[in-house]
Amino acid sequence: MTGPSKLWGARFRQAADPAAERFTASLAFDRRLATQDVTGSIAWARALARAAILTTAEATKIVEGLEAVRAELQAGTFVFRPELEDIHTNVERRLQELVGDVAGKLHTGRSRNDQIALDERLYLREVVAAAREGLRATQAALVERAAETEDAPMPGYTHLQRAQPVVLAHHLLAYVFMLQRDRERFVACAARADVLPLGAAALAGTAFPIDREALAADLGFAAVSPNSLDAVSDRDFLLEFLAAAAIAGMHLSRLAADLTLWATAEFGFVEFADAFATGSSIMPQKKNPDVAELIRGKSGRLYGNLVAVLTTMKGLPLSYNSDMQEDKEPFFDSVDTLEAILGVLPPLLASLTFRVDRMRQAAGEQYSTATDLADYLVRKGLPFRQAHELVGRVVRHALEKGLRLDEISIEELTTFSPLIGPDVKAALTVEASLAARAVTGGTAPEAVRRALGRARALLTP
Ligand code: ARG
Repeated sequence: MTGPSKLWGARFRQAADPAAERFTASLAFDRRLATQDVTGSIAWARALARAAILTTAEATKIVEGLEAVRAELQAGTFVFRPELEDIHTNVERRLQELVGDVAGKLHTGRSRNDQIALDERLYLREVVAAAREGLRATQAALVERAAETEDAPMPGYTHLQRAQPVVLAHHLLAYVFMLQRDRERFVACAARADVLPLGAAALAGTAFPIDREALAADLGFAAVSPNSLDAVSDRDFLLEFLAAAAIAGMHLSRLAADLTLWATAEFGFVEFADAFATGSSIMPQKKNPDVAELIRGKSGRLYGNLVAVLTTMKGLPLSYNSDMQEDKEPFFDSVDTLEAILGVLPPLLASLTFRVDRMRQAAGEQYSTATDLADYLVRKGLPFRQAHELVGRVVRHALEKGLRLDEISIEELTTFSPLIGPDVKAALTVEASLAARAVTGGTAPEAVRRALGRARALLTP
Protein backbone atom coordinates (compact mmCIF):
# COMPACT_ATOMS: atom_id res chain seq x y z
CA MET A 1 0.00 0.00 0.00
CA THR A 2 1.37 3.41 -0.90
CA GLY A 3 0.51 6.88 0.36
CA PRO A 4 -1.07 8.01 3.61
CA SER A 5 -4.12 6.09 4.77
CA LYS A 6 -6.15 9.32 4.78
CA LEU A 7 -7.33 11.02 1.61
CA TRP A 8 -6.62 14.34 3.30
CA GLY A 9 -3.51 13.53 5.37
CA ALA A 10 -1.07 16.13 4.07
CA ARG A 11 -2.55 19.13 5.85
CA PHE A 12 -2.35 17.41 9.20
CA ARG A 13 0.61 17.27 11.58
CA GLN A 14 -0.96 14.77 13.94
CA ALA A 15 -2.27 11.32 13.22
CA ALA A 16 -5.93 10.82 14.06
CA ASP A 17 -6.75 9.80 17.59
CA PRO A 18 -7.78 6.14 17.43
CA ALA A 19 -11.06 6.85 19.23
CA ALA A 20 -11.82 9.74 16.87
CA GLU A 21 -10.94 7.57 13.91
CA ARG A 22 -13.24 4.80 15.05
CA PHE A 23 -15.95 7.32 15.78
CA THR A 24 -15.91 8.95 12.36
CA ALA A 25 -15.39 5.80 10.28
CA SER A 26 -18.36 4.75 8.18
CA LEU A 27 -17.03 1.68 6.38
CA ALA A 28 -18.93 -0.70 8.66
CA PHE A 29 -22.17 0.46 7.04
CA ASP A 30 -21.36 2.34 3.83
CA ARG A 31 -19.66 -0.78 2.46
CA ARG A 32 -23.16 -1.68 1.33
CA LEU A 33 -22.76 1.03 -1.30
CA ALA A 34 -19.62 -0.52 -2.81
CA THR A 35 -20.99 -1.49 -6.21
CA GLN A 36 -22.84 1.82 -6.55
CA ASP A 37 -19.62 3.63 -5.71
CA VAL A 38 -17.83 1.76 -8.49
CA THR A 39 -20.64 2.43 -10.98
CA GLY A 40 -20.53 6.14 -10.18
CA SER A 41 -16.76 6.26 -10.48
CA ILE A 42 -16.79 4.57 -13.87
CA ALA A 43 -19.27 7.14 -15.15
CA TRP A 44 -17.19 9.95 -13.63
CA ALA A 45 -14.02 8.68 -15.36
CA ARG A 46 -15.86 8.68 -18.68
CA ALA A 47 -17.16 12.19 -18.02
CA LEU A 48 -13.62 13.39 -17.25
CA ALA A 49 -12.45 11.88 -20.53
CA ARG A 50 -15.25 13.59 -22.46
CA ALA A 51 -14.12 16.87 -20.87
CA ALA A 52 -10.52 16.06 -21.90
CA ILE A 53 -9.36 16.04 -18.28
CA LEU A 54 -8.31 12.42 -18.75
CA THR A 55 -6.83 11.04 -21.94
CA THR A 56 -8.71 8.14 -23.49
CA ALA A 57 -5.90 5.83 -22.41
CA GLU A 58 -6.05 7.05 -18.81
CA ALA A 59 -9.81 6.72 -18.68
CA THR A 60 -9.63 3.23 -20.15
CA LYS A 61 -7.08 2.19 -17.55
CA ILE A 62 -9.19 3.60 -14.70
CA VAL A 63 -12.40 2.05 -16.01
CA GLU A 64 -10.72 -1.33 -16.42
CA GLY A 65 -9.35 -1.07 -12.90
CA LEU A 66 -12.78 -0.21 -11.54
CA GLU A 67 -14.30 -3.16 -13.42
CA ALA A 68 -11.71 -5.35 -11.71
CA VAL A 69 -12.76 -3.89 -8.36
CA ARG A 70 -16.38 -4.64 -9.22
CA ALA A 71 -15.45 -8.22 -10.07
CA GLU A 72 -13.71 -8.59 -6.71
CA LEU A 73 -16.78 -7.23 -4.96
CA GLN A 74 -19.02 -9.66 -6.80
CA ALA A 75 -16.69 -12.58 -6.11
CA GLY A 76 -16.50 -11.62 -2.45
CA THR A 77 -12.71 -11.33 -2.62
CA PHE A 78 -12.53 -7.55 -2.17
CA VAL A 79 -10.70 -6.83 1.06
CA PHE A 80 -12.44 -4.08 3.04
CA ARG A 81 -9.94 -2.19 5.17
CA PRO A 82 -11.50 -0.53 8.22
CA GLU A 83 -8.47 1.74 8.67
CA LEU A 84 -9.49 3.40 5.39
CA GLU A 85 -12.46 5.30 6.89
CA ASP A 86 -15.12 4.77 4.26
CA ILE A 87 -16.14 2.94 1.11
CA HIS A 88 -14.94 5.72 -1.20
CA THR A 89 -11.39 5.49 0.18
CA ASN A 90 -11.46 1.70 0.05
CA VAL A 91 -12.42 1.65 -3.62
CA GLU A 92 -9.96 4.37 -4.62
CA ARG A 93 -7.08 2.72 -2.75
CA ARG A 94 -7.75 -0.64 -4.33
CA LEU A 95 -7.89 1.05 -7.74
CA GLN A 96 -4.51 2.60 -7.05
CA GLU A 97 -3.08 -0.81 -6.24
CA LEU A 98 -4.48 -2.22 -9.47
CA VAL A 99 -3.65 0.58 -11.95
CA GLY A 100 -1.06 2.74 -10.21
CA ASP A 101 -0.84 6.50 -9.90
CA VAL A 102 -3.30 7.27 -12.68
CA ALA A 103 -5.93 6.34 -10.08
CA GLY A 104 -5.08 9.64 -8.41
CA LYS A 105 -6.74 11.48 -11.31
CA LEU A 106 -10.17 9.94 -10.73
CA HIS A 107 -11.22 12.30 -7.95
CA THR A 108 -10.57 15.39 -10.10
CA GLY A 109 -13.43 17.85 -9.73
CA ARG A 110 -15.42 15.51 -7.52
CA SER A 111 -16.06 15.39 -3.78
CA ARG A 112 -17.20 12.66 -1.48
CA ASN A 113 -20.16 14.93 -0.88
CA ASP A 114 -21.60 14.55 -4.36
CA GLN A 115 -20.23 11.01 -4.54
CA ILE A 116 -22.20 9.78 -1.52
CA ALA A 117 -25.35 11.54 -2.68
CA LEU A 118 -24.98 9.70 -5.99
CA ASP A 119 -24.26 6.32 -4.37
CA GLU A 120 -27.34 6.62 -2.20
CA ARG A 121 -29.58 7.50 -5.13
CA LEU A 122 -28.26 4.58 -7.15
CA TYR A 123 -28.84 2.26 -4.21
CA LEU A 124 -32.33 3.64 -3.65
CA ARG A 125 -33.28 2.69 -7.19
CA GLU A 126 -32.58 -0.96 -6.50
CA VAL A 127 -34.25 -1.13 -3.11
CA VAL A 128 -37.35 0.65 -4.37
CA ALA A 129 -37.70 -1.99 -7.06
CA ALA A 130 -37.38 -4.72 -4.41
CA ALA A 131 -39.93 -3.08 -2.10
CA ARG A 132 -42.40 -2.69 -4.95
CA GLU A 133 -42.02 -6.33 -5.88
CA GLY A 134 -42.44 -7.48 -2.27
CA LEU A 135 -45.61 -5.44 -1.94
CA ARG A 136 -46.90 -6.82 -5.23
CA ALA A 137 -46.27 -10.40 -4.07
CA THR A 138 -48.16 -9.66 -0.85
CA GLN A 139 -51.06 -8.25 -2.85
CA ALA A 140 -51.04 -11.39 -5.02
CA ALA A 141 -51.27 -13.62 -1.93
CA LEU A 142 -54.19 -11.56 -0.59
CA VAL A 143 -56.00 -11.64 -3.94
CA GLU A 144 -55.63 -15.39 -4.08
CA ARG A 145 -57.18 -15.84 -0.64
CA ALA A 146 -59.93 -13.34 -1.50
CA ALA A 147 -60.77 -15.20 -4.70
CA GLU A 148 -61.12 -18.50 -2.94
CA THR A 149 -63.36 -17.13 -0.14
CA GLU A 150 -65.34 -14.81 -2.38
CA ASP A 151 -68.84 -15.04 -0.81
CA ALA A 152 -67.92 -16.04 2.75
CA PRO A 153 -69.55 -13.60 5.24
CA MET A 154 -67.92 -12.34 8.40
CA PRO A 155 -68.72 -9.59 10.86
CA GLY A 156 -67.43 -6.17 9.93
CA TYR A 157 -66.31 -4.07 12.89
CA THR A 158 -66.22 -0.48 13.97
CA HIS A 159 -64.79 0.35 17.39
CA LEU A 160 -63.93 -3.37 17.43
CA GLN A 161 -67.66 -3.99 17.98
CA ARG A 162 -69.64 -6.03 15.49
CA ALA A 163 -71.21 -3.56 13.11
CA GLN A 164 -72.47 -4.94 9.78
CA PRO A 165 -71.78 -8.11 7.82
CA VAL A 166 -69.10 -8.00 5.14
CA VAL A 167 -67.51 -10.75 3.11
CA LEU A 168 -64.03 -11.94 4.07
CA ALA A 169 -62.80 -11.16 0.55
CA HIS A 170 -63.84 -7.53 1.04
CA HIS A 171 -61.72 -7.32 4.20
CA LEU A 172 -58.72 -8.93 2.48
CA LEU A 173 -59.04 -6.69 -0.57
CA ALA A 174 -58.99 -3.60 1.67
CA TYR A 175 -55.32 -4.43 2.27
CA VAL A 176 -54.66 -4.94 -1.43
CA PHE A 177 -55.77 -1.37 -2.14
CA MET A 178 -53.76 -0.01 0.81
CA LEU A 179 -50.64 -1.75 -0.45
CA GLN A 180 -51.31 -0.31 -3.90
CA ARG A 181 -50.98 3.19 -2.45
CA ASP A 182 -47.72 2.05 -0.86
CA ARG A 183 -46.43 0.87 -4.22
CA GLU A 184 -47.39 4.22 -5.72
CA ARG A 185 -45.55 6.04 -2.93
CA PHE A 186 -42.38 4.10 -3.74
CA VAL A 187 -42.82 4.85 -7.45
CA ALA A 188 -43.17 8.57 -6.68
CA CYS A 189 -40.16 8.44 -4.35
CA ALA A 190 -38.01 6.83 -7.04
CA ALA A 191 -39.20 9.37 -9.62
CA ARG A 192 -38.24 12.31 -7.42
CA ALA A 193 -34.90 10.63 -6.61
CA ASP A 194 -34.17 10.30 -10.32
CA VAL A 195 -31.93 13.39 -10.37
CA LEU A 196 -28.14 13.36 -10.77
CA PRO A 197 -26.22 15.08 -7.92
CA LEU A 198 -22.74 14.31 -9.33
CA GLY A 199 -21.02 17.44 -10.64
CA ALA A 200 -22.04 19.45 -7.58
CA ALA A 201 -18.60 18.54 -6.17
CA ALA A 202 -18.12 19.65 -2.56
CA LEU A 203 -20.82 22.33 -2.70
CA ALA A 204 -20.20 24.95 -5.37
CA GLY A 205 -20.20 22.87 -8.55
CA THR A 206 -17.25 21.24 -10.24
CA ALA A 207 -14.70 23.59 -11.79
CA PHE A 208 -14.17 21.36 -14.82
CA PRO A 209 -16.28 21.44 -17.98
CA ILE A 210 -18.25 18.30 -17.24
CA ASP A 211 -21.26 17.58 -19.45
CA ARG A 212 -23.61 16.73 -16.64
CA GLU A 213 -26.47 15.92 -19.02
CA ALA A 214 -24.33 13.25 -20.71
CA LEU A 215 -23.26 11.99 -17.28
CA ALA A 216 -26.91 11.74 -16.23
CA ALA A 217 -27.74 9.81 -19.39
CA ASP A 218 -24.79 7.49 -18.77
CA LEU A 219 -26.03 6.70 -15.26
CA GLY A 220 -29.68 6.51 -16.32
CA PHE A 221 -30.91 9.62 -14.50
CA ALA A 222 -33.87 11.55 -15.88
CA ALA A 223 -32.59 14.95 -14.77
CA VAL A 224 -29.61 16.90 -13.45
CA SER A 225 -29.71 18.71 -10.09
CA PRO A 226 -30.21 22.42 -10.77
CA ASN A 227 -28.42 23.67 -7.63
CA SER A 228 -25.11 22.36 -6.31
CA LEU A 229 -25.80 23.35 -2.69
CA ASP A 230 -29.13 21.55 -2.74
CA ALA A 231 -27.58 18.53 -4.47
CA VAL A 232 -25.16 17.79 -1.62
CA SER A 233 -27.51 18.87 1.20
CA ASP A 234 -30.62 17.02 0.12
CA ARG A 235 -31.73 13.75 1.68
CA ASP A 236 -35.43 14.12 0.79
CA PHE A 237 -35.22 11.00 -1.34
CA LEU A 238 -34.16 8.94 1.70
CA LEU A 239 -36.83 10.52 3.85
CA GLU A 240 -39.47 9.74 1.24
CA PHE A 241 -38.29 6.15 1.13
CA LEU A 242 -38.37 5.96 4.94
CA ALA A 243 -41.83 7.55 5.00
CA ALA A 244 -43.14 5.15 2.37
CA ALA A 245 -41.63 2.24 4.34
CA ALA A 246 -43.15 3.54 7.58
CA ILE A 247 -46.62 3.87 6.06
CA ALA A 248 -46.36 0.44 4.43
CA GLY A 249 -45.20 -0.93 7.79
CA MET A 250 -48.24 0.64 9.43
CA HIS A 251 -50.55 -1.08 6.91
CA LEU A 252 -48.77 -4.39 7.36
CA SER A 253 -48.98 -4.06 11.14
CA ARG A 254 -52.75 -3.65 10.88
CA LEU A 255 -53.04 -6.77 8.75
CA ALA A 256 -50.84 -8.66 11.20
CA ALA A 257 -52.93 -7.37 14.10
CA ASP A 258 -56.15 -8.52 12.43
CA LEU A 259 -54.74 -12.00 11.94
CA THR A 260 -53.41 -12.13 15.50
CA LEU A 261 -56.82 -11.17 16.84
CA TRP A 262 -58.67 -13.55 14.53
CA ALA A 263 -56.45 -16.42 15.72
CA THR A 264 -57.57 -16.03 19.35
CA ALA A 265 -59.96 -18.58 20.81
CA GLU A 266 -62.34 -15.66 21.38
CA PHE A 267 -62.55 -14.97 17.64
CA GLY A 268 -61.53 -18.30 16.17
CA PHE A 269 -61.69 -16.94 12.62
CA VAL A 270 -58.32 -18.16 11.43
CA GLU A 271 -55.70 -20.76 12.20
CA PHE A 272 -52.01 -20.30 11.53
CA ALA A 273 -50.17 -23.18 9.97
CA ASP A 274 -47.69 -24.74 12.39
CA ALA A 275 -44.92 -23.59 10.07
CA PHE A 276 -45.81 -19.96 10.79
CA ALA A 277 -46.43 -20.24 14.52
CA THR A 278 -44.33 -21.02 17.57
CA GLY A 279 -44.86 -22.71 20.91
CA SER A 280 -44.27 -21.75 24.50
CA SER A 281 -41.30 -22.85 26.58
CA ILE A 282 -43.54 -23.40 29.59
CA MET A 283 -47.14 -23.87 28.41
CA PRO A 284 -47.28 -27.02 26.34
CA GLN A 285 -50.67 -26.22 24.81
CA LYS A 286 -49.70 -22.84 23.35
CA LYS A 287 -49.53 -21.95 19.68
CA ASN A 288 -48.44 -18.36 19.27
CA PRO A 289 -48.69 -16.19 16.14
CA ASP A 290 -45.14 -14.82 16.59
CA VAL A 291 -44.57 -14.13 12.92
CA ALA A 292 -47.65 -11.93 12.73
CA GLU A 293 -46.79 -10.27 16.04
CA LEU A 294 -43.30 -9.42 14.82
CA ILE A 295 -44.67 -7.99 11.58
CA ARG A 296 -46.85 -5.79 13.79
CA GLY A 297 -43.90 -4.96 16.03
CA LYS A 298 -41.42 -4.10 13.32
CA SER A 299 -43.49 -1.11 12.26
CA GLY A 300 -41.92 0.54 15.34
CA ARG A 301 -38.42 0.54 13.92
CA LEU A 302 -39.69 1.69 10.52
CA TYR A 303 -41.19 4.74 12.21
CA GLY A 304 -38.07 5.20 14.35
CA ASN A 305 -35.80 5.25 11.31
CA LEU A 306 -37.91 7.95 9.65
CA VAL A 307 -37.93 10.08 12.77
CA ALA A 308 -34.19 9.54 13.29
CA VAL A 309 -33.28 10.90 9.86
CA LEU A 310 -35.82 13.72 10.01
CA THR A 311 -34.32 14.75 13.34
CA THR A 312 -30.76 14.51 12.04
CA MET A 313 -31.61 16.74 9.09
CA LYS A 314 -33.52 19.31 11.10
CA GLY A 315 -31.83 22.67 11.30
CA LEU A 316 -28.67 21.61 9.42
CA PRO A 317 -27.05 24.62 7.77
CA LEU A 318 -26.32 24.31 4.06
CA SER A 319 -24.60 22.52 2.59
CA TYR A 320 -22.99 19.18 3.53
CA ASN A 321 -22.52 18.37 7.23
CA SER A 322 -21.08 15.22 8.75
CA ASP A 323 -24.34 14.72 10.61
CA MET A 324 -25.64 13.42 7.30
CA GLN A 325 -23.47 10.33 7.58
CA GLU A 326 -26.07 9.26 10.17
CA ASP A 327 -28.62 8.75 7.40
CA LYS A 328 -27.30 5.37 6.35
CA GLU A 329 -27.94 2.99 9.21
CA PRO A 330 -31.63 3.93 9.55
CA PHE A 331 -32.00 3.73 5.77
CA PHE A 332 -30.42 0.29 5.54
CA ASP A 333 -32.38 -0.90 8.55
CA SER A 334 -35.65 0.08 6.92
CA VAL A 335 -34.59 -1.61 3.69
CA ASP A 336 -33.80 -4.81 5.59
CA THR A 337 -36.88 -4.67 7.80
CA LEU A 338 -39.26 -4.18 4.90
CA GLU A 339 -37.55 -6.91 2.92
CA ALA A 340 -37.84 -9.30 5.88
CA ILE A 341 -41.55 -8.57 6.38
CA LEU A 342 -42.39 -8.84 2.69
CA GLY A 343 -40.42 -12.06 2.43
CA VAL A 344 -42.40 -13.90 5.10
CA LEU A 345 -45.87 -12.43 4.66
CA PRO A 346 -46.94 -13.93 1.30
CA PRO A 347 -46.24 -17.55 2.35
CA LEU A 348 -47.84 -16.89 5.73
CA LEU A 349 -51.00 -15.64 4.02
CA ALA A 350 -51.05 -18.67 1.75
CA SER A 351 -50.83 -21.00 4.76
CA LEU A 352 -53.77 -19.59 6.76
CA THR A 353 -56.89 -21.65 7.34
CA PHE A 354 -59.94 -19.41 7.48
CA ARG A 355 -62.76 -20.74 9.72
CA VAL A 356 -65.50 -19.55 7.41
CA ASP A 357 -68.14 -21.44 9.38
CA ARG A 358 -67.30 -19.50 12.54
CA MET A 359 -67.18 -16.23 10.63
CA ARG A 360 -70.52 -16.87 8.96
CA GLN A 361 -72.19 -17.57 12.30
CA ALA A 362 -70.67 -14.50 13.91
CA ALA A 363 -71.73 -12.36 10.94
CA GLY A 364 -75.42 -12.70 11.85
CA GLU A 365 -75.10 -12.20 15.60
CA GLN A 366 -75.30 -9.06 17.73
CA TYR A 367 -78.05 -7.39 15.71
CA SER A 368 -75.68 -6.92 12.81
CA THR A 369 -78.57 -6.35 10.39
CA ALA A 370 -80.28 -3.65 12.49
CA THR A 371 -79.26 -1.06 9.90
CA ASP A 372 -81.01 -3.19 7.29
CA LEU A 373 -84.24 -2.98 9.29
CA ALA A 374 -83.91 0.80 9.35
CA ASP A 375 -83.19 0.79 5.60
CA TYR A 376 -86.27 -1.42 5.09
CA LEU A 377 -88.43 1.19 6.82
CA VAL A 378 -86.84 3.96 4.77
CA ARG A 379 -87.79 2.10 1.61
CA LYS A 380 -91.36 2.02 2.95
CA GLY A 381 -91.26 5.80 3.26
CA LEU A 382 -90.14 6.50 6.84
CA PRO A 383 -87.49 9.25 7.25
CA PHE A 384 -84.18 7.66 8.28
CA ARG A 385 -83.94 9.42 11.66
CA GLN A 386 -87.34 8.01 12.68
CA ALA A 387 -86.41 4.60 11.36
CA HIS A 388 -83.18 4.66 13.39
CA GLU A 389 -85.11 5.57 16.52
CA LEU A 390 -87.70 2.85 15.92
CA VAL A 391 -85.11 0.15 15.32
CA GLY A 392 -83.29 1.26 18.46
CA ARG A 393 -86.46 0.43 20.37
CA VAL A 394 -86.77 -2.92 18.60
CA VAL A 395 -83.19 -3.81 19.58
CA ARG A 396 -83.74 -2.77 23.18
CA HIS A 397 -86.88 -4.93 23.27
CA ALA A 398 -84.94 -7.87 21.81
CA LEU A 399 -82.11 -7.39 24.33
CA GLU A 400 -84.60 -7.40 27.21
CA LYS A 401 -86.23 -10.58 25.92
CA GLY A 402 -82.91 -12.20 25.08
CA LEU A 403 -83.89 -12.60 21.43
CA ARG A 404 -81.95 -12.30 18.21
CA LEU A 405 -83.35 -9.92 15.61
CA ASP A 406 -84.57 -12.79 13.42
CA GLU A 407 -86.25 -14.46 16.40
CA ILE A 408 -88.75 -11.65 16.90
CA SER A 409 -92.08 -12.63 15.36
CA ILE A 410 -93.70 -10.62 12.60
CA GLU A 411 -96.64 -9.94 14.93
CA GLU A 412 -94.33 -8.42 17.50
CA LEU A 413 -92.47 -6.42 14.88
CA THR A 414 -95.65 -4.94 13.44
CA THR A 415 -96.49 -3.52 16.87
CA PHE A 416 -93.52 -1.20 16.37
CA SER A 417 -94.71 0.04 12.97
CA PRO A 418 -97.52 -0.77 10.56
CA LEU A 419 -94.98 -0.31 7.77
CA ILE A 420 -93.41 -3.64 8.71
CA GLY A 421 -94.75 -6.51 6.65
CA PRO A 422 -93.92 -10.20 6.20
CA ASP A 423 -91.25 -9.33 3.62
CA VAL A 424 -89.11 -7.94 6.47
CA LYS A 425 -87.71 -11.38 7.32
CA ALA A 426 -85.98 -11.69 3.98
CA ALA A 427 -84.49 -8.22 4.37
CA LEU A 428 -82.81 -9.07 7.67
CA THR A 429 -80.70 -12.03 6.61
CA VAL A 430 -76.92 -11.70 6.31
CA GLU A 431 -77.19 -12.50 2.59
CA ALA A 432 -79.71 -9.71 2.02
CA SER A 433 -77.63 -7.28 4.02
CA LEU A 434 -74.58 -8.11 1.89
CA ALA A 435 -76.47 -8.08 -1.41
CA ALA A 436 -77.94 -4.64 -0.69
CA ARG A 437 -74.46 -3.11 -0.68
CA ALA A 438 -73.86 -3.44 -4.40
CA VAL A 439 -72.44 0.04 -4.92
CA THR A 440 -68.97 0.31 -6.32
CA GLY A 441 -66.68 -0.40 -3.39
CA GLY A 442 -69.44 -2.11 -1.37
CA THR A 443 -69.37 -5.57 0.16
CA ALA A 444 -72.10 -7.25 -1.98
CA PRO A 445 -70.57 -10.38 -3.50
CA GLU A 446 -71.14 -9.02 -7.02
CA ALA A 447 -69.40 -5.72 -6.10
CA VAL A 448 -66.56 -7.64 -4.49
CA ARG A 449 -66.18 -9.70 -7.66
CA ARG A 450 -65.75 -6.47 -9.60
CA ALA A 451 -63.24 -5.21 -7.02
CA LEU A 452 -61.40 -8.49 -7.28
CA GLY A 453 -61.07 -7.88 -11.02
CA ARG A 454 -59.62 -4.43 -10.33
CA ALA A 455 -57.28 -5.91 -7.73
CA ARG A 456 -56.06 -8.57 -10.13
CA ALA A 457 -55.28 -5.89 -12.70
CA LEU A 458 -52.89 -4.34 -10.16
CA LEU A 459 -50.77 -7.46 -9.94
CA THR A 460 -48.75 -6.96 -13.08
CA PRO A 461 -45.22 -6.01 -11.98
N1 ARG B 1 -19.15 9.30 4.80
C1 ARG B 1 -19.76 10.49 4.33
C2 ARG B 1 -21.27 10.38 4.45
O1 ARG B 1 -21.75 9.33 4.64
C3 ARG B 1 -19.43 10.71 2.91
C4 ARG B 1 -19.26 12.16 2.58
C5 ARG B 1 -18.12 12.65 3.36
N2 ARG B 1 -17.77 13.97 3.17
C6 ARG B 1 -17.00 14.57 4.09
N3 ARG B 1 -16.59 15.69 3.83
N4 ARG B 1 -16.73 13.99 5.23
O2 ARG B 1 -22.01 11.35 4.37
